[in-house]
Amino acid sequence: MLAIIGGSGLTTLSNLDVSHREVVRTPFGEASGAVVFGEICGKPVMFLPRHGYGHTIPPHMVNYRANLWALHHHKAVGVISVASVGSIRSDLQPGDIVLPHQIIDYTWGRKSTFFDGVASPVTHIDFTEPYDAELRERIREAAEALAIDVKVGAVYGATQGPRLETAAEINRFEKDGVDVVGMTGMPEAALARELNLPYAAINVVANHAAGRGSSANGIRFESLEVVLHEAMGRVRSVIEGLVGC
Ligand code: HPA
Repeated sequence: MLAIIGGSGLTTLSNLDVSHREVVRTPFGEASGAVVFGEICGKPVMFLPRHGYGHTIPPHMVNYRANLWALHHHKAVGVISVASVGSIRSDLQPGDIVLPHQIIDYTWGRKSTFFDGVASPVTHIDFTEPYDAELRERIREAAEALAIDVKVGAVYGATQGPRLETAAEINRFEKDGVDVVGMTGMPEAALARELNLPYAAINVVANHAAGRGSSANGIRFESLEVVLHEAMGRVRSVIEGLVGC
């Protein structure tokens, strides 16, 4: 069964016909909420809202380990992460859907491994390609079949949040090769790999990054809601295509 982790703008999957919810106790504490089980056009899917059901958990407080562990426990065969981002690359506009292929991690202080040397031995996973290429391709094909435009390939910069970045930080990230910035991509992707769970991300551009384009004079997060709402409709359609509607 495919698992979907929804971020800002996707706290519920309106096309999911819910059958039941399960609260999982994990060795790493509580997940962001109950895992919701249901069907999208008859195909089983599980869903977890990353920030909790009332969007009360900020990016740096998300219990990423419990979330991934809960989905693994429920035998997820793959995880699709949906998350909003700010765009640095000039061809990426608010409302665009992006399928990133690489990550640079700028987060700190997050519990980022299951292999902490206490419960399980120190293990160094390969993370050369942080996302599952096959799952990304399946998402791309689903979008193409529906004539929904997606940009394939972007470097995702994971920032600590919850504040947005300074203009100088964005300039630095651009020099590093970052195309889009978000606050939740790590350690989520690495934890999925530690569990051998194929993981791919669907990023929705909510805004130009700080100091860029329409954000030259600041970012008002509230005004991003409209863009996100419309784009998440397209993301839901892509997910429907992906599960085989
Ligand atoms: N920066 C970091 N995370 C984000 C942004 C941003 O500009 N927009 C949406 N998530």
